[in-house]
Amino acid sequence: MPPPQRLTMLNDDARMRVIVTGGLGFIGSVTALRFNAAGNSVLVVDSVESNVVSAIDLRAVGIEVIEDSVANYLAACGTIEADLVVHAASPVGAAGVLRHPFGIAEHIVGATAAVGKACLAAGARLCHISSSEVYGLDGVLSERTSPRVPVEHSARVEYALGKLTSEAVLAGLARRGLKHSCLRPFNVVGARQSRFGGFVLPTFVQQALAGLPITVFSDGGQTRAFLDVEDLVDFIVAAASSQHAFQSACFNVGNPANSCSILELAQRTRVLLCSSSQIEFVDATEIYGPDYVEGASRHKLCHVERALALGWRPHRSLDEIIRAVAEHYRVRRDMRNSDARDNHALPARHSPAR
Ligand SMILES: NC(=O)c1ccc[n+]([C@@H]2O[C@H](COP(=O)([O-])OP(=O)(O)OC[C@H]3O[C@@H](n4cnc5c(N)ncnc54)[C@H](O)[C@@H]3O)[C@@H](O)[C@H]2O)c1
Repeated sequence: MPPPQRLTMLNDDARMRVIVTGGLGFIGSVTALRFNAAGNSVLVVDSVESNVVSAIDLRAVGIEVIEDSVANYLAACGTIEADLVVHAASPVGAAGVLRHPFGIAEHIVGATAAVGKACLAAGARLCHISSSEVYGLDGVLSERTSPRVPVEHSARVEYALGKLTSEAVLAGLARRGLKHSCLRPFNVVGARQSRFGGFVLPTFVQQALAGLPITVFSDGGQTRAFLDVEDLVDFIVAAASSQHAFQSACFNVGNPANSCSILELAQRTRVLLCSSSQIEFVDATEIYGPDYVEGASRHKLCHVERALALGWRPHRSLDEIIRAVAEHYRVRRDMRNSDARDNHALPARHSPAR
């Protein structure tokens, strides 16, 4: 275990050229804006297939944006110039992955391998956003836990295996000199996250604001630990300043203090937003179709000692996050188009209240 390091923010002496793939998405956009605000030169590459901010918004603050896939960008530019690449481009979400039948693993592994090779050739460090789904297990998970490969196949399993295989590919490139870290975030939430793709908190908040039923899948007894997106980006920034982070380590990044059941999340959302919505227990396959499957883990919680050892701490409480998501959706519509089958959950004619 590396010794604890102070969480250093980037300063004028540490200006970097940073590439953020998926930088128009939920996590990528917060990452790109943070590195940009710290005075770094930032390039975003995003295929705009599930973006939550527009290229115009990022260009307005001086971020360079290429609207294309990672594969096309790398094929066109040949070599990259960067000190750090944050690779966040990926199909994502329990329902979002259903839009990529039989292609998810190829998509994830192909893009990650290409990014890893480009970083190796350029001498750039790579922060790869993997997923806590790689574990395929129920319980409180640490980086020392061996993942389980389920016997049943589904888009969700393919996503998890794509992420796990990507980690293995990068570990192979590390033997040839790649400096990288793999982050396994646990249930990231925050303003701008879209409900499309199947994410629970923006769905609950938008339903509560519109006075519509809050749709809880199954009996709501599943437990999750919710991490604020700004806390995740704090970790990415801390890792960028740490030599230890790029020694091929995997890091769980989550907030155990924000653990709760999905039913409790629905109740807290309803109470905090003073909503008249009723809570309804529904079968997710009625909303997303028969290919939707629940995660392998009914209880997916995390040990985060390895991340804490870098000096990082998650700060934002679940109630604060629920309020922040509500503030966002009180005045804005969900940016993404309805490409998943969840119009049932929030019909287009119901715009969020106020
Ligand atoms: N949101 C979570 O709770 C969570 C949890 C664990 C891991 N992750 C991982 O974090 C990363 C970001 O997730 P997010 O929640 O911000 O999702 P998102 O859908 O909001 O963002 C992903 C972005 O990547 C872009 N993209 C997809 N494929 C691309 C490609 N081939 N080339 C270029 N751009 C591409 C999309 O247009 C989108 O803007 C993903 O790798 C995801 O697997 C997310």
